[in-house]
Amino acid sequence: MALIAILPGDGIGPEVTAQARRVLEALDLGLSFEEAPVGGAAYHAMGHPLPETTLDLAKRADAILFGAVGDPTCDALERQFRPEQAILGLRKALGFWANLRPATMMPGMEDASTLRPEIAAKIDMVIVRELVGDVYFGEKGRRQTEDGRRQGYDVMSYAEDEVRRIAVVGFEMARRRRKSLISVDKANVLETSQLWRDVVNEVAADYDDVALQHMYVDNAAMQMVRNPGQFDVVITGNLFGDILSDQASMCVGSIGMLPSASLRDWSGDNGLYEPIHGSAPDIAGQGKANPCAAILSAAMLLRHSLDNEAAAQRIEAAVAKALSGGIRTPDMGGSHTTSQMGDAVLAAL
Ligand code: IPM
Ligand code: MG
Repeated sequence: MALIAILPGDGIGPEVTAQARRVLEALDLGLSFEEAPVGGAAYHAMGHPLPETTLDLAKRADAILFGAVGDPTCDALERQFRPEQAILGLRKALGFWANLRPATMMPGMEDASTLRPEIAAKIDMVIVRELVGDVYFGEKGRRQTEDGRRQGYDVMSYAEDEVRRIAVVGFEMARRRRKSLISVDKANVLETSQLWRDVVNEVAADYDDVALQHMYVDNAAMQMVRNPGQFDVVITGNLFGDILSDQASMCVGSIGMLPSASLRDWSGDNGLYEPIHGSAPDIAGQGKANPCAAILSAAMLLRHSLDNEAAAQRIEAAVAKALSGGIRTPDMGGSHTTSQMGDAVLAAL
């Protein structure tokens, strides 16, 4: 019996993961579930955003369903106690270096996008974001300049093997899709990016069948709203991937729609699955949160960690059906509640 760790976290995290859990339970796959606190909730209850017991559960589980972390009451804490350290710590401790963030327009949802419908209709991309390196995990701190001014610094770096493995994931995915790969960097300015580009070109030699294009991140941000349909598979570093995936979500219509998978390798065993949105403290507890990203994350969990493609597709089809039936949470311009959306997905299953 597969064990699913549920880490609801802060803000809307508990509300959306509850709906995702309902959907998983309804499929009757004989899964078992164990919940543990994480983020600000864990800090307030246990004095640490990623308590030892939570980390143990994450390691023991066959897969992790994660909600969101972020809690304004923790803003003044030392960095190591901030809620975000929980997700960064999990990614690092469990070695989840490959982050898949698919962004696909669901038919009938075009009007929810801030882009013109005929442009938004063409969105079908996967952003493959490197997740345990880059400026996120480099040396960082505060120091003083020689003339006594305060200075903050964060070191950006990538080693060649870190780039190579993410490039391989990107090429392999592209090979299974439309055979187009766009690698996003800032090689015109950053040495880290020049190495990234060099290594991606080396890997490309093994993938004659995939068309590779390099794109500077500023141009990529512009192209993504100009003509998002040109993106098939995108590979990029941790920081650029964080930014571009939020942008891709809005192109699709709502940040409440995008799921993600964080994996150690292709096989995907013991992956972490989470909506790309944050904890949205301003709407927490009001039944306004869109649970679709969490529910679609559960689908990715079945696909990548439990090798159950059929069940994953069943969930995705049910979400599409619920949406085409006109159920919309406020982020998509509707007035249905979190649990009404969950009900509609369950009914469509
Ligand atoms: C994400 C989030 C996280 C990140 C935060 C919560 C640390 O924005 O998963 O995109 O920056 O990676
Ligand atoms: Mg982000």
